[in-house]
Amino acid sequence: MPCSLPRQYLIQFLQSVKDFYRQPENSRIEMFVEMADFLEQLIADSNRTYPGLENKSLLPAIHHLPVAVEDAGAQTKAIAASINLLAPFLNWKQTAGYEILGEHYLHNYGYCTLIGPGLLIEHQSMKLGFGIWGPGLHYPLHHHAAEECYHILGNAMQFRRENEQWQTYSDAQAIYNAPWQIHELKSTDKPMFLLYTWRGDVAPDAVLI
Ligand SMILES: [Fe+2]
Repeated sequence: MPCSLPRQYLIQFLQSVKDFYRQPENSRIEMFVEMADFLEQLIADSNRTYPGLENKSLLPAIHHLPVAVEDAGAQTKAIAASINLLAPFLNWKQTAGYEILGEHYLHNYGYCTLIGPGLLIEHQSMKLGFGIWGPGLHYPLHHHAAEECYHILGNAMQFRRENEQWQTYSDAQAIYNAPWQIHELKSTDKPMFLLYTWRGDVAPDAVLI
């Protein structure tokens, strides 16, 4: 039996992301404008139904969620709280090919993508989702065909593009990656919790370098 997805939790998540993307510092960025417009249409469409997910899968990394949500800052608290409600009803995933990162990594990371090709909310050229990584994890160099923007939800984390210095990013800051830009991330001693939008050639997954 499909597990029914509470519509109010989903709408709450879409609304919180839309409001965040409409904030002045985000609304200057075209991908956020495009995503916010799409979210606004979804929220306004009260006739749209969202099917329960077949084969719903959770992952061990979900146990980091309460701490990550608690650590969200003033600007991201609403998004984090809505993810906390919605997360048990979603399909949690790990990228194919990431088994090479080892058991500890796989036990402590996972993501959910809600919007995208063939996903809960269909879209051919954009994706929207969130991911979580436990403390002390290194997500090594990788790239993907889509352009991407991460937002930090709460705890500071570290990021760098190929050949750059590591930089620390904190709550509500955005990180942009152009298509095929090689990049890597690290959590600190707290969980890393990220919201992401992809745009363009969104169907292919990320690939490790
Ligand atoms: Fe990425």
